[in-house]
Amino acid sequence: MRNLNHETITEAVLERQDKTADPRLKQIMTSLVRHLHDFAREVQLTEDEWFKGIEFLTRCGDITDGKRQEFILLSDVLGLSMLTVAMNNDKPAQCTEATVFGPFHVQGAPDYELGADISNGARGIPCLVRGTVRDANGAPVPHARMDVWQSDEDGRYDVQYTDIDHAQARGVLHADADGRYHFRSILAVPYAIPDDGPVGDLLEATGRHPWRPAHLHFMIEAPGYETLITHVFRSDDPYLDSDAVFGVRQSLIAEWKAQPDGSYLVEYDFVLNPVAARMP
Ligand code: BEZ
Ligand code: FE
Repeated sequence: MRNLNHETITEAVLERQDKTADPRLKQIMTSLVRHLHDFAREVQLTEDEWFKGIEFLTRCGDITDGKRQEFILLSDVLGLSMLTVAMNNDKPAQCTEATVFGPFHVQGAPDYELGADISNGARGIPCLVRGTVRDANGAPVPHARMDVWQSDEDGRYDVQYTDIDHAQARGVLHADADGRYHFRSILAVPYAIPDDGPVGDLLEATGRHPWRPAHLHFMIEAPGYETLITHVFRSDDPYLDSDAVFGVRQSLIAEWKAQPDGSYLVEYDFVLNPVAARMP
């Protein structure tokens, strides 16, 4: 196998990995090599550009640590995360849609009683959040576990502060026997995804902003139902049509209603998909 050229090298690589034992890995690697090579041929990639790409990925690796995941951020801004969510979460129309997980979830957030204030010192305008967790027939899903997280009024999550070592504006609650939930937190605001690294440079170079529309994150689990990872978005947000990570779904938009005392109220009803009802 010598004197390979820009046409024959693709088949040579595929032949070389032909003995891949795992059929799924073989399918993925075959497609990846084909698409990568076709991409390079299509744009007639120069050696300088190839090296710039390597430098970019190296910077993504250098800035990644336990608290910062630049590769997930890259996947998010390229729409790959949302594409993967969309392909793997086809549900009946009545069910609440899924969206991106994002990098700011923390395992082991504190448990709260229904009605508690989960802000725990995070700065922001007080907000009451309430609604129900039901199945597609409208029957309550009792005692669903609801893991909730959000940013503060400066658009930052607790884990983004070096001087905060306890959970703020995140927590785990359980809906009641009738599927009802309510808790206090703070008003969700739009925020910029971390843009001080290579992904931020990419956004700037491609004429894009780093903003996400205001949202609350939810991960909802109940026996017999698919885990739902989603957001609820604020209907009056200016970034709903240009979310930096393409996560907005019309069905996930709710109105945050200003209350006479200056606080806010948002109500949202979640509909879970039974495990057996997964579409093919
Ligand atoms: C988030 O909503 O927390 C998020 C999602 C994707 C990238 C950055 C942040
Ligand atoms: Fe978020």
